[in-house]
Amino acid sequence: MRTPLIAGNWKMNGLSEDAVALAASVSDRIGGLDAIEIVVCPPFVHLPAVAERLRGGAYLGAQNCADAPQGARTGEVAADMLADIGVRYVILGHSERRAFYGEDSAMIAARYTQAMESGLRPILCVGETLEEREDGRTEDVVAGQINDVADRLESSVGLGDGVIAYEPVWAIGTGRTATAAQAQAMHAFIRGVLGERDPGLAGGMRLLYGGSMKPGNAADLLAQPDVDGGLIGGASLNAEDFAAICAAAARG
Ligand code: 13P
Repeated sequence: MRTPLIAGNWKMNGLSEDAVALAASVSDRIGGLDAIEIVVCPPFVHLPAVAERLRGGAYLGAQNCADAPQGARTGEVAADMLADIGVRYVILGHSERRAFYGEDSAMIAARYTQAMESGLRPILCVGETLEEREDGRTEDVVAGQINDVADRLESSVGLGDGVIAYEPVWAIGTGRTATAAQAQAMHAFIRGVLGERDPGLAGGMRLLYGGSMKPGNAADLLAQPDVDGGLIGGASLNAEDFAAICAAAARG
């Protein structure tokens, strides 16, 4: 019912030559994985070249979009500009955006609205810090992050056909992964939060796990009933590793 989705977040890595080579290498390795959706999210400047090299083998994703339509917003990229060059998905509210650039729920909701209005599919990132987990506040934090954004969206549209990525901050880039049981527990909890908002939404919305997912732990994480895919950072910069994670998702 929910098509598995594996998205590679390249973050702020690579010059143009590296991006094209990585796109080519990913493209060569993902043929035949038709049962799942695969997305690569390069830095903005590499999007056109990566689109050209992927030639439809994987969807194109961006790592953010502006919180307003085209106009006086120096340094931002409008959602319709992204859609115009073939971008299909956009990562929003990543913990690095929240931590380093002060993005809060109001801003993330404004970006989400822009994405939806341009036909992009948002991948909304949520997740607790280590301190929040140790304080026993994980569920409150994650429910708050979802509800604070969803409450600000047009009620007629809501979260729409977006995707939620649960990325515990303590697992991002640390090599420390949530156990499959921890991931499943949080994904089931998130589905419950969505169900309280809209029972129809909860069953269909895809929930991705992110945080040091690698070929060695992907199968276990992806086998969990409420884990519908992954948002991959470091391992997405290695085509072989990324393709192995995609293959694990395709095996179910
Ligand atoms: P890592 O896979 O490098 O931990 O990064 C996860 C992430 O932040 C994806 O958005």
